Amino acid sequence: MIKKILSKAVTSLAGRDDFEIPEHDSPLFAEIDWDKLPRHVAVIMDGNGRWGKEHSVLRTAGHSAGVGTLKNILKTAIGLKLDALTVYAFSTENWKRPETEVNFLMNLFYESLKKELQELHEDNVQIHFIGRIDGLPESLQKQMHEAEDLMKNNTGVKFNVAVNYGGQDELVRAVKKIAADVQAGKISPEAIDETLVENSLDTCGNLPVDLVIRTSGDMRLSNFLLWQAAYAEFYFTDVNWPDFSPECFVDAMKAFANRDRRFGGLNDNKK
Ligand code: FPP
Repeated sequence: MIKKILSKAVTSLAGRDDFEIPEHDSPLFAEIDWDKLPRHVAVIMDGNGRWGKEHSVLRTAGHSAGVGTLKNILKTAIGLKLDALTVYAFSTENWKRPETEVNFLMNLFYESLKKELQELHEDNVQIHFIGRIDGLPESLQKQMHEAEDLMKNNTGVKFNVAVNYGGQDELVRAVKKIAADVQAGKISPEAIDETLVENSLDTCGNLPVDLVIRTSGDMRLSNFLLWQAAYAEFYFTDVNWPDFSPECFVDAMKAFANRDRRFGGLNDNKK
């Protein structure tokens, strides 16, 4: 009981409630190399449970605090004029967690979406949910479809939220779609190429991922965007997701600017 009360109180320790979309000349962006920003950033928001443990509260308090962090990172991405931000909110493997935690997360997604819907729309965000959406509670699915519909004509950052998502599952679904089209005679097997596979994924219409950020110390992809991250740079930090500030995000942008991306070729001075 005490842990529950503390959990509510401590959630506000993470993030800032008053954070606004930073302007181009904001001190936060002072050392940014605007010509070397990634266009599509993907984030594995890890460490919510550990954050809760560190603060002697429930794991779920970490998830609640993580919503505030996500809001601020999205605003930073808008300020940086990134093309897309894709975040891993719930994997196909996360169903293995205790039922209470799964239910908490589903409710958190529902409530957060309901609460933030108008502000996201005002910020010109194009929200899109990726993953097996039809496997989620119906009320949540409805809220997701409403949000996508409301923001479908927006032109700002593409904000992709992966829920009940697995990269292998996404590829299997894409292969099935293509196989069905072949069987129906709509396409020939020879017509199957990288573009067709890409267009059959949940992220169709997005640029390839340039940068994957993972918080909380683990260094793995955990079945996230397996195809899309083929040539992505990776940035790992020990900071737990609820403590991942806009400054931390900007640090990742700076690290990205210093990477030498060759895409399998040679860099200029080796040619
Ligand atoms: C991983 O931390 C985090 C999750 C499984 C949930 C992420 C969800 C949020 C940040 C909320 C986002 C909200 C919306 C509306 C999309 P973990 O629980 O695996 O942490 P641990 O590794 O320390 O146990």
